[in-house]
Amino acid sequence: AYLSPEQIGRLNVKVDERSDLYGLGVLLYELISGCLPVQGEEPAGWRHAIITQVPRKPISLAPSIPPVLSDVIMKLLEKAPENRYQSARGLLWDLQECRRRLRQTGTIGLFPVGEYDVVSSFRLPTKVFGREEELQAIVTVISQAVEGQSKTLLVSGEPGVGKTMLLNEAFKTVPLGSGFYIAGKFDQLRRNVPYAAFAGAFGELIKQLMSESKEELGYWKKQVTKALGRNGAVILEVVPELEWLIGSQPPLDELPPKEAENRFLLVFSDFVKAFAKKGRPLVLFLDDLQWADPASLKLFTYLATNSDLDSVLLVGAFRDDELDVEQLSVDLNEAAHLSLKPWKPGQVTEFLAETFHSETGDVEQLSEILYRKTGGNPLFLSQLLKLIYGEGLIYFDPIEVRWKWQTEALRKRQPEDNVLLLFLNKLKSLPGSTLEVLKWAACIGSRFSLDVLSDMCGQSLEETASSLKPAIDEGLVLDLTFQLEFLHDRVRQAVYSLLSDEEQKQRHLAIGRLLLANAGGDSPEEKVLSVMDHFNRSLLLIDDPEERIKLAGYNLIAGRKAKASAAYASALQYFRCGKTLLPDDAWDKHYAVCYEVHLELAQGEYLAANVEEAEKLFDQVIARAKTELERARIYSLKIILYGGIGDYSRAVQTGIRALAKLGVKLPFHPTKGDYARELLLYKWNMRNKRIEMLAGLPEMQDPRQRMVAE
Ligand SMILES: Nc1ncnc2c1ncn2[C@@H]1O[C@H](COP(=O)(O)OP(=O)(O)O)[C@@H](O)[C@H]1O
Ligand SMILES: [Mg+2]
Repeated sequence: AYLSPEQIGRLNVKVDERSDLYGLGVLLYELISGCLPVQGEEPAGWRHAIITQVPRKPISLAPSIPPVLSDVIMKLLEKAPENRYQSARGLLWDLQECRRRLRQTGTIGLFPVGEYDVVSSFRLPTKVFGREEELQAIVTVISQAVEGQSKTLLVSGEPGVGKTMLLNEAFKTVPLGSGFYIAGKFDQLRRNVPYAAFAGAFGELIKQLMSESKEELGYWKKQVTKALGRNGAVILEVVPELEWLIGSQPPLDELPPKEAENRFLLVFSDFVKAFAKKGRPLVLFLDDLQWADPASLKLFTYLATNSDLDSVLLVGAFRDDELDVEQLSVDLNEAAHLSLKPWKPGQVTEFLAETFHSETGDVEQLSEILYRKTGGNPLFLSQLLKLIYGEGLIYFDPIEVRWKWQTEALRKRQPEDNVLLLFLNKLKSLPGSTLEVLKWAACIGSRFSLDVLSDMCGQSLEETASSLKPAIDEGLVLDLTFQLEFLHDRVRQAVYSLLSDEEQKQRHLAIGRLLLANAGGDSPEEKVLSVMDHFNRSLLLIDDPEERIKLAGYNLIAGRKAKASAAYASALQYFRCGKTLLPDDAWDKHYAVCYEVHLELAQGEYLAANVEEAEKLFDQVIARAKTELERARIYSLKIILYGGIGDYSRAVQTGIRALAKLGVKLPFHPTKGDYARELLLYKWNMRNKRIEMLAGLPEMQDPRQRMVAE
């Protein structure tokens, strides 16, 4: 009950001394009114209440208190830190004023609170600034989702313009009823790992459910099991955490690629559907779609255009210079699309006035200079402000009790051309040990956990945390409750760019090896996609033949895993790396892996429309295959592929050839006589038998005959 909203950890706001002022507010509230300002049940209810419930004024509960005291307490209990007292000194001033008035006149009367609460430490405002229209549009789509409609919301704009911040804030503050808000992010470094953002979002959802009561859990288990039917395994490939809820699932029927893809999309959409209904919406926010793998984009489009969903708000944010909205093939008449623009000069002025708690007139000049340097990009602007504050060009004058800036020096200051250079500049001022840890983090991705990071650095958790501290204090890394995150991808990029190509590869290799060892060596199943993604960046550096062949095997596993969830483009990358890892004499020394890798790769190339390459690979396998049966399997795969693209005559011809090799001779161009002969043969074989009797015959055991039948 005494935690401040930002301590709940969902507002993406750094916790500072203003949290203590909130806590003090709760205490005073309780002292005066006898009850707590907000009420909740169970941890989840409390968290929600603290973030959203607005307390009743103390004076309405205890009418005898001086009204100003009520105002003071309400100011302490403001949700956004910047609306509270900014300093204990400001609060003290108001309380002393109360005492002074009481002593002099016997009553306190009314006066505006917080007047002398001057902010003398520099802080950027933490609330979303200047996006009122956009917020309104978001509130509208949310309420439509609450009422049962399904909506798609697209938010685009340049890096740093404020997409992530806007959406995070909106979904955390606008009430969703008892619905869910889940978010996942695609990572610039992890573009080949399929469905990463979906996996992140739904993994989080399952973890949220796990903290629910038993009845609630039972309800969700029933919902999801009903929605998935016998196809649960499809989802487990992407969201392994789901097994906690619904248990292990029966294996899937094998389907040809196109059908498997359809099944995947259908089942995933049913899965999403299970979590939403009228009054209980699901908000699914996928950030940085420009880095999504092809299969994820397909899934996104499918969900966006599949009108079968109810009460689902699907949200996608992306950089419009890297992904064209057309590529999403979402019906733009149906979807809401917000294109965020950098702040206009007037907005920059207002932002500065708010930051320095001053009148717009006072910051005009500063605003002009900063606008010219940053073009109004919020990320660039905020960071530049922090930098020049650090350089002493902006400072608080305690005598005049106001903020000042050195206009001339600011004008002359060598400008950073872009935000990347600015971050590079900032990184220079960090201690060497901090930078070293950050470099490892930058290779892991934009989000990372302290334990993996400390393993990488070969340090204890405490040592790593203390190395990171300067970066956290600088605001370059955010300390979220269960993991750490770079302030922005641009920061990760800046750190990453400090490593040479060679160093990047070495680090990815080291990370791959460590993750593989941590996964227990033999069965890295669940993580295999992201583990192999690290290895696959540095294949040239691996020269131990044993390691190479082992990794070829893991790439086979990874590729098949991707394939199992219809992520064919990603699967192809893994199979290609698998083949690269095979030694020249692989066919002789490692026949099994070699055969499987080639065969998978051939199918992958075929699906990617690289027909020539595929045929070449098929021919290689056919030439190398050891038995007639193995060869027959290749033909049967080819038949499925040809059929899949509608080349039926080729499929039939391949079939006839394959059958000939197995001893079944069929003519390529049957005549009427051929038909008649077959028909007579059939009648003869079926004499004195009825169709139903066939079911009673023993199962065919001869593998060759079975292959013929297949
Ligand atoms: N509307 C805003 N009000 C205040 N600060 C903002 C706003 N938009 C962006 N910022 C600042 O810019 C930073 C980057 O914003 P972010 O949402 O991560 O950008 P994007 O996702 O568009 O790349 C934020 O951390 C914040 O400091
Ligand atoms: Mg973003």
